[in-house]
Amino acid sequence: MPPLLLGERIGGIVAKNLGKQNGKAELFRKKTGKARQEKWASLLADISGLLRLCGSWHAVLKSENNMDKIFADNILQGKVAFVTGGGTGITGGIARSFAAHGARLAITSRKEDNLVPQKQFIEENGGECFAVVTDVRHYAAVENAIAKTVEHYGWIDIVVNGAAGNFLCSAEQLSANGFGTVVDIDTKGTFNVCRAAFEELKKSKGQILNISATLHYLATPMQIHVSAAKAGVDAITRNLSAEWGRHGIRVNGIAPGPIEDTEGMKRLLVPELKEKIMRKIPIGRFGRIADIENAALFLTSDAASYVNGVTLVVDGGNWLLGTSLA
Ligand code: COA
Repeated sequence: MPPLLLGERIGGIVAKNLGKQNGKAELFRKKTGKARQEKWASLLADISGLLRLCGSWHAVLKSENNMDKIFADNILQGKVAFVTGGGTGITGGIARSFAAHGARLAITSRKEDNLVPQKQFIEENGGECFAVVTDVRHYAAVENAIAKTVEHYGWIDIVVNGAAGNFLCSAEQLSANGFGTVVDIDTKGTFNVCRAAFEELKKSKGQILNISATLHYLATPMQIHVSAAKAGVDAITRNLSAEWGRHGIRVNGIAPGPIEDTEGMKRLLVPELKEKIMRKIPIGRFGRIADIENAALFLTSDAASYVNGVTLVVDGGNWLLGTSLA
């Protein structure tokens, strides 16, 4: 435990015990004279105050290092953000951080079970959240989700394409349908949402954020389907940024590296594998969902008003050493 945190704890315990001693003043008086009692109480109060001060310093330092506090709370104030796959995982984190920074959320997932707890969480924390069950593979369903969101909020400023599918499978075992399913969700789904949101984004001079990966920068065995799908997503990011920039729409992406606090990674990261991956992360730690949230906040805020057509790699330098574990 860091010494200052220890100070905070001890300060608390001492203060608690002081309180108890006040309650047992009668007993205390019996055992000590009044002068001695006052001397002890004053000494303990001094120690307690000092330790509490240390604790406060620790709290200040902790909040300065707290990644949630990097941006002003109102950085996305009043913006309406439509986030696919916004119920869980990395995009779930993005949705929560957008809400915490002033945005009003519309989240989609194929499964209602993924949406209900997220909506509840955002609302309990003072945000607004509108949830629509949608499969991004089907254009009509996406159009309907966009229309419902506009009906609910009036407009859309930000679209985040996070809906994705993934599983590990070697190329020789993967069926054509397995390959196509992931491409349909990731690539076609991203296009579907961008296309269906275009008129709204044109009106709001809004922006798109596509969640990609680094798998396709080199070669990642067992991930041919996702690599191909995400390469397509990157192409969509670049092409749309070039075509829609003139409408005031910025289109960017994020390519996350190994993010440890996602459900998938928690299951996958057995100690041996964790060590193997860690050796290939120059910055010396796994990513956290908060790392991606901060990149998303930056890219969708006015701080990035001249950033267009970029896929920002947030991986601690991992892909440079090769993401393959083969
Ligand atoms: N290994 C190999 N092939 C697989 C597979 C696996 N683990 N999972 C699915 N497939 C194949 C199926 O066999 C099927 O192909 P086939 O008809 O030739 O047999 C094809 O993919 C479609 O599978 P199906 O389960 O019908 O599709 P779905 O639309 O219900 O599921 C997936 C979508 C494929 C993405 C599924 O893995 C899924 O729902 N995953 C959970 C969400 C997720 O992956 N999130 C990760 C975010 S990064």
